[in-house]
Amino acid sequence: MKKIVGDTHNVELSQKAFDPFYGAPTVIFVSHRKQDLQPGIEFSNVACVTYSMHLAATNLGLGSVFIWGALESMREIPELDNTAVLNLPDDFEPLIGIAIGHPATELSARDLKTDKISINYL
Ligand SMILES: Cc1cc2nc3c(=O)[nH]c(=O)nc-3n(C[C@H](O)[C@H](O)[C@H](O)COP(=O)(O)O)c2cc1C
Repeated sequence: MKKIVGDTHNVELSQKAFDPFYGAPTVIFVSHRKQDLQPGIEFSNVACVTYSMHLAATNLGLGSVFIWGALESMREIPELDNTAVLNLPDDFEPLIGIAIGHPATELSARDLKTDKISINYL
């Protein structure tokens, strides 16, 4: 799980550093109906939905972060699995989440690197 702060004596901050949702007041889980017809399409579907939420949150001046790690931990360590609280229909499972909240520090534009993803031009 990515840490948001380094070592600190500030108790509140260190708590947040180990909270997979970073203390965000809202976490939305996007779920899918389990299916074998189009393997993998569920990942594209939830990514589209969640990315729209990411952009909408940013537009509102809110901070947001995709949450995959917590769901992966739940799959790996069944004792951590609290999926039942989501009240999903039987054949659905959460695939990704997005934590949303007011940013602790003011948001600012970043210089985006254009070489992070390689492209083959044909
Ligand atoms: C599919 C996906 C899942 C992610 N899951 C997590 C997560 O569980 N916890 C977390 O802190 N960040 C998560 N992130 C956010 C990344 O750590 C990173 O902050 C984000 O992709 C922005 O990257 P950038 O700084 O290179 O723009 C996830 C990102 C993506 C695309």
